[in-house]
Amino acid sequence: MNIQKNISLKNYNTFGIDVIAKRFISVTSVYELQQLLKIERDIFLISGGSNMLLTKDIKKLVVHIDIEGISIDRENENDVYLTVNAGENWHNFVLWCVTNNYGGIENLSLIPGNVGTCPIQNIGAYGVEVKDTITKVEAVEIKTGKLVQFSNEDCNFGYRNSIFKNDAKNKFIITAVSFKLTKKSHHLNTSYGVIETELAAKNIETPSLKNISDAVISIRRSKLPDPKEIGNSGSFFKNPVISVLKFNQLQEKFSTIPNYKISEKETKVPAGWLIEQAGFKGKRYGEYGVHSKQALVLVNYGDASGKEIHQLAQTIQEAILNKFGIRLEIEVNVI
Ligand code: EPU
Repeated sequence: MNIQKNISLKNYNTFGIDVIAKRFISVTSVYELQQLLKIERDIFLISGGSNMLLTKDIKKLVVHIDIEGISIDRENENDVYLTVNAGENWHNFVLWCVTNNYGGIENLSLIPGNVGTCPIQNIGAYGVEVKDTITKVEAVEIKTGKLVQFSNEDCNFGYRNSIFKNDAKNKFIITAVSFKLTKKSHHLNTSYGVIETELAAKNIETPSLKNISDAVISIRRSKLPDPKEIGNSGSFFKNPVISVLKFNQLQEKFSTIPNYKISEKETKVPAGWLIEQAGFKGKRYGEYGVHSKQALVLVNYGDASGKEIHQLAQTIQEAILNKFGIRLEIEVNVI
C-alpha cells in the first residue's frame, strides 16, 4: 500500500482549494479498499471532489477512490442494465451512454464529479434526477469492510438528498452504481425552458440523445464556470422550499420572484434569483466571489482559501435572511 505524505489536494477538488493531506492513498479496487480498512478506519474520502469546500488541512488519512470500469450486466430489446465503478468520471460516462444510444442521463451532461458520488446528492439538472435511473448502489461498510447493496428504495432519494447524506453518512464508501437505461423509446426530457429554446434555435424537432446532451452542454457552458478554468463546486446552496403562504407574502413585495410549485402547500424558490436580488451576482472580492452568470455559484479565481469562501457564503445567508426571511441551506460539504 502506497501511502504518500503531505500531498496538496488542490487538484483533487473542483474548487481548487490548496490544503494539505498529511497522508494520502489512491485505492483502485474494492479488495484494496477492504484491506486498507483492516488497518485504518478513521479516514477522509475524496472522489471527484466536486461537492466539497475544504477549509483546512486534512489530518486523517485521505483515501482517493480511483476504482474504474463499466460493465453491462444484462440487456433486452428495450433496456440495458449497467454497473459503473465509483471512480469513473461522470461526464465521460454520460458521453459513453450517448454514443451507445443508452438513454436516461443525457440531461445530466457536464456535471462535474465521479459516478460514485452521483447518488449522494442525487445529482439533477434540466428536469432529470439521477435517482430515476439508479437501480442499485454498492458500498463497503467502513466498520466491517463488508460489501453491501442499497436498492433504489433503500437510498431514500430526495431533492439533492439521499440516505448517504443522512443515516448512512460517514458509514459507507460507495464503490459502484448500477443503472437501468433505455435502448429505444427513450423518455426524452426537453420541457425545461432553456432546452426547448436551444433545440428550437437549431431547428431540431425530433431530438436524439446527442442533440439533448449537446444542448445541455452548451447551456451549462454559457452559465456555469468550467472548474478547470475557475474553481467552483456548482450550486453552492440548495434552492429553498418555502410555504405557499410565505411565497404569496413575498410576491406582494417582490412581484417578479420565480417559483416552482412542489405541492399545494410548498414551493421552491431559485436561490440564484434571491442572491442576485440581494446584489451579490458577479461580485468579486480579491481571489473569490459570486459567478457573474449564475449567482448560485461561488468561485475561486485562483488562490482563495476555503475559509474566505465559507465566510462569503455566510454573509450571503445573512443578507438573504434579512431581505427575504429565508434561510439558505448550503449544498456543498464544508470541511
Ligand atoms: N436566476 C436568477 N439569477 C441567477 C441565477 C438564476 O435570477 O443568477 C433565476 C433564473 O432566471 C431562473 C431561475 O433562477 O428563473 C432558475 O435558474 P436556473 O435554471 O439556472 O436553475 P437553478 O435553479 O438556479 C438548478 C440546479 C442546478 C441545475 C439547474 C438546471 C440547484 C441547487 N441547482 O439551478 O444544479 O444545473 O437547476 O436544472 O437545484 C448544481 O447542483 O451544482 C447545479 C448546477
